Amino acid sequence: MKYIDLSFDSEPFTYKILIGKDLFNKKVFADSLKGNSVFIVSNETVAPLYLNQLKLALSDYSIFTYLLPDGEQYKSLDSWQELLNAMISVRLRRNDTIIALGGGVVGDMAGFAAACLNRGMSIIQVPTTLLSQVDSSVGGKTAVNHPLGKNLIGAFHQPSLVVTDIKTLGTLPEREFLAGISEIIKAAIISDSAFFEWLDENALHILEHDESALVTMIETSCRIKADIVAEDAKEKGIRAWLNLGHTFGHAIETCAGYGKLLHGEAVAIGICLAAKFSFGNSSLSKTDSERIVRLVQKFGLPTTIPEYLNADELTNAMRLDKKNTSESITLVLPEKVGKVMIDKSVSLSEINEFLTQAMD
Ligand SMILES: NC(=O)c1ccc[n+]([C@@H]2O[C@H](COP(=O)([O-])OP(=O)(O)OC[C@H]3O[C@@H](n4cnc5c(N)ncnc54)[C@H](O)[C@@H]3O)[C@@H](O)[C@H]2O)c1
Repeated sequence: MKYIDLSFDSEPFTYKILIGKDLFNKKVFADSLKGNSVFIVSNETVAPLYLNQLKLALSDYSIFTYLLPDGEQYKSLDSWQELLNAMISVRLRRNDTIIALGGGVVGDMAGFAAACLNRGMSIIQVPTTLLSQVDSSVGGKTAVNHPLGKNLIGAFHQPSLVVTDIKTLGTLPEREFLAGISEIIKAAIISDSAFFEWLDENALHILEHDESALVTMIETSCRIKADIVAEDAKEKGIRAWLNLGHTFGHAIETCAGYGKLLHGEAVAIGICLAAKFSFGNSSLSKTDSERIVRLVQKFGLPTTIPEYLNADELTNAMRLDKKNTSESITLVLPEKVGKVMIDKSVSLSEINEFLTQAMD
């Protein structure tokens, strides 16, 4: 088993991210559980696969479970309210622990409940998708969607432990597995050119789910995110690097309609657009721009905007993104593979022109 200690420059606590096989056992959870009860949040797809194993590991505690319906469309205030109702009805106390067993949707919903209930409760993240293992379970961002935009309502609330069992990837649909790779490619572009090359060289092993390649990939990717989050927990500076591909990606996801494109697929397209934009308007070389698009392609991820979307709609969605002002768009742009910069002054007309050309 590998582990990463996440300690913050500005926050008074640390937590562990455990990565390995067969981690659903008592010892792994014991130190992080304080009260008498645990409240497991999962969904109707993941629970039949892993809930019993997890319950067995927690058999010394009173266990409550709540299953969300499956899907990004349920990452809403309405579903979240029902989740809170369930937690309140069993009188969950502040020193009890919430456990999120599932992908990013379950993790974000349960995490936001933990941030708010009783003015903050402890949460253990048990991520079961590749995307949640390398991204959403680490760093403490929690949220629900609003019809006008993704993740508009949420809070920063760090977990007390992250337990990543790579065996859960064995049941994950291949399309979901690939979608998780986009966040890993993103991490490499942000700060680790050697990891970018490693991904390129090991693509076949990764696609075959070679266990050692999976552990290396997840650990390296989590470490990159952990290092950034440790320095900037509340996104006042460099944490914004992690939004590479997301300003375009969120707009694509919102305009396509929740559930049509996977989050990771929209991010993959967003990464390619950021690379192309940077090549045309900023400092990325043609070679690096092409390398980025090629790596995204190598993992079978989409690289271009779907034809059913249009540039005006996308520009408007980018304008509404919570990180942008009404006049200009903030973009994270690769300067080279392994280094990014933040451009806060890209005008709406520049974006619109670029998107129109990209869709020609
Ligand atoms: N909080 C953050 O920092 C952060 C970062 C990135 C993404 N996110 C959010 O995460 C969400 C996307 O997460 P996701 O990609 O994990 O999607 P998801 O949670 O919807 O899971 C994808 C699908 O896989 C199923 N599933 C999960 N684990 C499985 C397993 N082991 N075997 C079989 N099926 C399994 C789920 O039921 C679902 O149908 C988005 O809402 C996004 O906004 C949050």
